[in-house]
Amino acid sequence: MKFGYFDDRNREYVITTPDTPLPWINYLGCQAYFGIVSNTAGGYSFYRDARLRRITRYRYNNVPLDLGGRYVYLRDDESKEFWSPSWQPTRNDLKDYACRHGMGYSVIGSTYTGIEAHTRYFVPLDENLEIWQLTVTNRRATRARISAFASIEFCLWDAQDDATNFQRNFNTGQVEVEDGAIYHKTEYRERRDHFAYFACSESGAGFDTQREAFLGRSRGWENPAAVEAGQLTNSIAHGWSPIGAHQVKLDLAPGETRQIVFVLGYHENPKDQKFDPPGSQIINKKTVKPVIDKYLAPQQADAAFERLRQYWEGLLGIFQVDTPDIHTNRMVNIWNAYQCMATFNMSRSASFYESGIGRGLGFRDSNQDLLGFVHMAPARARERILDLASTQLPTGGAYHQYQPLTKRGNNDIGGGFNDDPHWLIVGVSAYLKETGDWSILDEPVPYDNEPGSEKPLYEHLQRSFRYTLERLGPHGLPLIGRADWNDCLNLNCFSDTPGQSFQTTTNKDGKVAESVFIAGLFVHAGRELAAIARRRGLAAEAASYLAEVAKMEKIILQHGWDGEWFLRAYDDFGAKIGSKECEEGKIFIESNGFCVLAGIGLEDGKAAQAMEATRTHLATKHGIVVQQPAYSRYYLNLGEISSYPPGYKENAGIFCHVNPWVMIGEARLGHGDRAHDYYSRINPSAREEIGDLHRCEPYVYAQMIAGKDAPTFGEAKNSWLTGTAAWNYYAIVQWILGIRTSLEGLEIAPVIPRSWPGFTATRIFRGVVYRIDIERKGEGNRIALTVDGEPIVGNVVPPPTDGRKEVSVKGVLT
Ligand code: GLC
Ligand code: GLC
Repeated sequence: MKFGYFDDRNREYVITTPDTPLPWINYLGCQAYFGIVSNTAGGYSFYRDARLRRITRYRYNNVPLDLGGRYVYLRDDESKEFWSPSWQPTRNDLKDYACRHGMGYSVIGSTYTGIEAHTRYFVPLDENLEIWQLTVTNRRATRARISAFASIEFCLWDAQDDATNFQRNFNTGQVEVEDGAIYHKTEYRERRDHFAYFACSESGAGFDTQREAFLGRSRGWENPAAVEAGQLTNSIAHGWSPIGAHQVKLDLAPGETRQIVFVLGYHENPKDQKFDPPGSQIINKKTVKPVIDKYLAPQQADAAFERLRQYWEGLLGIFQVDTPDIHTNRMVNIWNAYQCMATFNMSRSASFYESGIGRGLGFRDSNQDLLGFVHMAPARARERILDLASTQLPTGGAYHQYQPLTKRGNNDIGGGFNDDPHWLIVGVSAYLKETGDWSILDEPVPYDNEPGSEKPLYEHLQRSFRYTLERLGPHGLPLIGRADWNDCLNLNCFSDTPGQSFQTTTNKDGKVAESVFIAGLFVHAGRELAAIARRRGLAAEAASYLAEVAKMEKIILQHGWDGEWFLRAYDDFGAKIGSKECEEGKIFIESNGFCVLAGIGLEDGKAAQAMEATRTHLATKHGIVVQQPAYSRYYLNLGEISSYPPGYKENAGIFCHVNPWVMIGEARLGHGDRAHDYYSRINPSAREEIGDLHRCEPYVYAQMIAGKDAPTFGEAKNSWLTGTAAWNYYAIVQWILGIRTSLEGLEIAPVIPRSWPGFTATRIFRGVVYRIDIERKGEGNRIALTVDGEPIVGNVVPPPTDGRKEVSVKGVLT
């Protein structure tokens, strides 16, 4: 069952049923001011940091699930009936309800009793504000007298404190209302120099800023007393819950349309210019008023929207493909790329499943996210890399996350994950391959943000690599530490206390538990680092890395091989995990996927065997599960992985993030059919038809799909913010379509399904437009390339030396 449809031409997903199985959301903003908006106008906004600068309030895990948002109400001032064109919160029986989620904007609207209304929500580029353009049309044969209301609830900045510390914050709320604009200034008197505002283009028929005055006692957002009464009360909030609500009266002739613009924004003043007049307690609005006035003008709002459209057109235009598979095209050309930008902006902090309180930017996650967005935002990737590296510890290890506002690392979600440092090498390597900007390696970067500790970025990579060499276990495999990529494989934890966090509880300083996954990652990252060293002219150093890599490869094949597949780990007792000797958890996806991705066992057939075993034991019609058999009970020596009921999350769920490792593994083996088949099983667009089972948005990946051991097999959870976005993008673009960045240039090595006659693509790479046309003439993956009609040797297209800005590449597969 479907709840809407893709409008590919407009790059929109159109939801036509408001009552989706879960809130289907979109993101507003792409720089500093962000918002989440659901298909029924739920959600919230924040400036940079979803925890520390929350602008509007939202109550997670609410009933109904998604309540609190950017709500518009319309009231027929004759019949006194009122409704919300976005369905929530009033939930009337609307006609022609549609939510169009597009690139950085959403338009939600419907018709009710002959009154058509749509609101377009977006954040203009380079501004810290969002615009709501409400358009109301009278489709009746008679005049209509309508009141339009727009409302938001302010958050008292720190979302965590806001949701818990009521003894204090029921007393602190403050607002100002000036020239019809509402200013939220809680704590501005004292240490804050920022405030929020909510303004309206029409001189209003009233406003409210105190929640209780607007909603009335014992009521919710579904029937605000002031809307019911048809008149806002001009309340001024003191303490309690400041809100922003505006009322505008419309008298519409038949067929008449009116547009009202609302602007919700965030503003900072210099510390010494906070008040006007100086010495007063009144917000200095000199710099904010021109901004507000500008965007309240509908032409300016439209112009800002057009700029946003062009911005996305430019970003997505960097890679476009035309294949025989519509789901591939749609995801690669539009939604997967878009989701990669969301994971870049948000990491794992704010979604419908991430509360914006719990997590900052993850070290491991953000480095992997680079794989998906570096081609669209290289300058920002550079900045992100330097920020991440600045939090690296002098040991080469990493804090697991840092806070975007302070850019400092912390241990709030744990530390000592021994895979972390290698992802920095992977991220930097992706950046170098995309940009050829070698200067980044010479940037001075501190350790742990300590002034004076700056060393060239390149040294950070050296320390990342050494980190593992200094932490090897009894078999010579890397010690796992708190965990590796799989946060929940906690081999040094032994937690037996209810409620204790597996992520942060003190672990045993184990010297036995080893990870075959980290070993595979080490091999992969080590090769990347060696290639970088070689290009820097450090031949001896490169050779030493390759020697370590070769040693590790041997150890993996010797101690990390179980006969038919790669082992997963050794536990604290030196016992195997992910072996046929185990009762449960005999085979895991991570070590098999990543070792083959890293090219381990390609020569002696072990890679092929590992992929075969993965296919036999782990692949399902909804994707590849983490391990089998699922853990049916709690194992003290394994930790969180066994805390999940079978089939969910890391306990044999389909973790979509790691499925691409197997796709890449199959591609490395030359198995295009299998690689693309795995790709399609979790492709959200290909799952649109089973929307009632899948339940999450069909336009973005979810972190997890319930595995075959779960009663809800096939049901997705945790959409949007997941490494799945970057890895799937990377797998399909670079390994299946085979349009791959390398240090030498753009490499073309497709491993596509046998049934595809070919495909065409456009790639803008280092300032040159590559028009690529791949034609299949045989069943294999051998490719012969011509560039502008001239055959070339090998499959790296040499960058044009004569200043040409466009080249055409023809590839014939046989
Ligand atoms: C989550 C985390 C990621 C981790 C994965 C597996 O997606 O964000 O860092 O690797 O879970 O545990
Ligand atoms: C939990 C989740 C895991 C996530 C981790 C991050 O362990 O199960 O997926 O990576 O939390 O804190």
